[in-house]
Amino acid sequence: MEPNRQSDWVARSLRSVWHPCTQMQHHAQGDNHVPLIPVSHGRGAWLYDHEGRRYLDAISSWWVNLFGHANPRINAALKDQLDRLEHAMLAGFTHEPVIQLSERLAALTGHQLGHAFYASDGASAVEIALKMSFHSWRNNGRGDKQEFVCLKGSYHGETIGALAVTDVALFKDAYGPLLRATQTVMSPDARQAAEGETAQDVARRAAADVERLFNERGDKIAAIIIEPLVQCATGMAMHDPLYLRLVRDLCDRHSVHLILDEIAVGCGRTGTFFACEQAGVWPDFLCLSKGISGGYLPLSLVLSREEVYQAFYSNDVTRGFLHSHSYTGNPLACRAALATLDIFEEDNVLVNNRARAGRLGKALAPLAGHERIRNARNRGMIWAFDAVGVDSAFSRRYFAEATRQELLLRPIGSTIYLMPPYILDDEEIDGLAARTLAVFEATLAGQGG
Ligand SMILES: Cc1ncc(COP(=O)(O)O)c(C=O)c1O
Repeated sequence: MEPNRQSDWVARSLRSVWHPCTQMQHHAQGDNHVPLIPVSHGRGAWLYDHEGRRYLDAISSWWVNLFGHANPRINAALKDQLDRLEHAMLAGFTHEPVIQLSERLAALTGHQLGHAFYASDGASAVEIALKMSFHSWRNNGRGDKQEFVCLKGSYHGETIGALAVTDVALFKDAYGPLLRATQTVMSPDARQAAEGETAQDVARRAAADVERLFNERGDKIAAIIIEPLVQCATGMAMHDPLYLRLVRDLCDRHSVHLILDEIAVGCGRTGTFFACEQAGVWPDFLCLSKGISGGYLPLSLVLSREEVYQAFYSNDVTRGFLHSHSYTGNPLACRAALATLDIFEEDNVLVNNRARAGRLGKALAPLAGHERIRNARNRGMIWAFDAVGVDSAFSRRYFAEATRQELLLRPIGSTIYLMPPYILDDEEIDGLAARTLAVFEATLAGQGG
């Protein structure tokens, strides 16, 4: 067996690795075959396989990468950190990277939120926010507030608690008996606008649904969890910021916590560092992960309000938040995050992304106007397009065709979306838009229409 042959890596991976969110049989040869691509290395916006083929990472490797693969500045920070401290437990000990990161994140919220509590994956941050919400009510003598509310189509992760506040049947149904019952309210998805209705009208209707529920059982509800501005995993459903203002107000009036899950939409994806800035509101808990480490290392965290922190601050150990993960606040991950925040500041990223988004938006106009596309939409550095008249294998066939055209793009159902890293040059932007359309047309032709 020749070492490093592409097909060998595929065969070995299929024998030994159970790939995430995958029906493994789809990797077997056959009609519905989905390619498995062994990545040899990455550089900038591109991933390279072992045969020298490259793939433009148009979805930032599951929405984590911000400044390209093998970014020299993040690499340098990590190499420096490696020689200082790779890891130390965070109970009873602390270290520079975790302190600096916590201070800088609090400052980014104008010190509305702070007391960063760390974990590794997004779902763990959601678990922490849910537990903290319930426990802080309990510490304040409101142990009867035990229920959580989520939006229709919401996605907050795959662990048992996070899945309970997720509303994607494909991920949730099999585990129904294991999950806590959750209240689900209308999504503010602007695509639901009736004739003559605006996105703000939909936001008002959706907020009225929250009000109805809070009026009925607000005294039993601990928190509502929302992915602000874009519900990503359900297919990039976008809503008006007004919705967040209305819900914030309802939460204040009914004493319900607002948890904002900015795991996917944070770190500049929607145009501002935090999505909630566009609504001018702050939650009681803000969950962050994915892009915060630049897409380098697993890092997640929850920022919370002072009142929440105070609810746990006591002589009594059982009133404390006794949650932990072994790698909480890992110094390497925190250092990658600090290097990421440095790039935001030094390169004026949020401002420069506006120009990038303007160019990509223009370049995508032919796709937006395609006769088989509806609901072309954009917020910051996220674009989405709903394909009509496509079959249930559309997403898999589009992905396979995209890999043939040097593109990493995986539609969600019939929604084609782009969430690229913030480093594309003009040539890459134009090439990305042209290929997204070309792959769409080839996929349609492959389905016979
Ligand atoms: C909004 C949102 N919340 C939570 C998660 C879960 O994060 P992780 O996959 O890191 O557990 C995701 C992952 O895609 C997400 O998009």
